[in-house]
Amino acid sequence: MGAILVTPETTRRVTVLGCTGSVGSNTVELLAAYPDRFRTEVLVAGRNVGKLAEQARLLRPALAVISDPAGYADLKDALTGTGIAVAAGPAAVVEAASRPEADWVMAAIVGAAGLAPTLAAVQRGATVALANKEVLVCAGELVMAEVRRCGATLLPVDSEHSAIFQVFDEARRDRISRLILTASGGPFRTWTREAMQGVTPAQACAHPNWSMGAKISVDSASMMNKGLELIEAHHLFAMPEDRINVLVHPQSVIHSLVEYVDGSVLAQLGTPDMRTPIAVALAWPDRVATPGDRLDLVKAANLTFESPDPVRFPALGLARLALQSGGAAPTILNAANEVAVAAFLAGTLGFLDIPRVVEKCLTTLAHGPLGTLADVEAADAEARCHAIAEIAVLSRAN
Ligand SMILES: NC(=O)c1ccc[n+]([C@@H]2O[C@H](COP(=O)([O-])OP(=O)(O)OC[C@H]3O[C@@H](n4cnc5c(N)ncnc54)[C@H](OP(=O)(O)O)[C@@H]3O)[C@@H](O)[C@H]2O)c1
Repeated sequence: MGAILVTPETTRRVTVLGCTGSVGSNTVELLAAYPDRFRTEVLVAGRNVGKLAEQARLLRPALAVISDPAGYADLKDALTGTGIAVAAGPAAVVEAASRPEADWVMAAIVGAAGLAPTLAAVQRGATVALANKEVLVCAGELVMAEVRRCGATLLPVDSEHSAIFQVFDEARRDRISRLILTASGGPFRTWTREAMQGVTPAQACAHPNWSMGAKISVDSASMMNKGLELIEAHHLFAMPEDRINVLVHPQSVIHSLVEYVDGSVLAQLGTPDMRTPIAVALAWPDRVATPGDRLDLVKAANLTFESPDPVRFPALGLARLALQSGGAAPTILNAANEVAVAAFLAGTLGFLDIPRVVEKCLTTLAHGPLGTLADVEAADAEARCHAIAEIAVLSRAN
């Protein structure tokens, strides 16, 4: 990874993809707190025109982009007289990520929808702060090959990967024996499978420690999130699947660990607040102060650990299988999961049916190699169609 020094004398120029979401809004808050260090080039949102306009008035970017073309007229109206240019549509999102003026890009769109713009930022050699883990799950080999070819820098934003990044001795990577990803276990950690049968979207989104967007909250509740993170860690740190373990740690104080051959285990700790890993990536290799509570270990008192339960939470095992299988399997896993989570949130699929849909897609569809973005998009589209058909079968059966 190339080094970029940020001092108060230099201004980092920043683009935020997915600025209106949970990670995006925390990023905007930090950017607003340091106007001398960061200048915003582009803000990109999906559909939330009101919030995008409000953030644009605060940060004064050169350009504001709304992915949903239906939002164009309202956004233009809302930003009249500000001098901020406005654009809309998926192609404008990719163009925004390609603009060379921003040397740092926050990739915080949710799902595979973030792949094309994130890849565009990588391909112009930008420093990309990656929250959008689905990008590496659905196209990890392709994206990492482009990172190397184009001299881009990937900085992890997921709290677990940020923790590993901070204690991972790249110069002595051959002395690292394994990575240990911690998991909170989500809101249903202690629930029986029978009790999980009828959970509602509101229950699944009520995460005990973190405040996050709906999709990642459901993924955390099913533990698919940890499966996606396993695949993400494999690509980010070039670590084989069998040397990445998962440890349930309900307090979310230890964000992840790296074990070295001499038995030393290094960890990064902190309160569960996404502003910390976002700030790590934003200021890297420098540090900036963040608001929020500092970690008080006396108050935290008991840190506990347990193994994940593969019977109640089969999604983690499915992700491991997909990673072992390779080729299109992780792309299929991700696409099927996105469709199943959307159906669960819409009330048309049961919570326990999410991994069933994913498994069915993984076992039915071919896992051929993916050489190009078009290959990834084709595998993603096929898996989405198959998942929709599976959901229809399951709803007829229920
Ligand atoms: N939240 C966390 O604490 C956290 C932690 C670690 C990793 N992550 C990862 O970070 C990513 C974002 O998570 P989140 O919780 O911030 O999600 P979120 O709150 O649902 O926000 C998603 C963002 O993506 C935008 N978006 C959705 N579809 C889009 C499209 N087609 N084109 C452009 N923008 C689009 C949304 O815009 P609108 O709202 O305007 O529609 C919103 O700004 C996910 O991959 C998640 O796994 C999140």
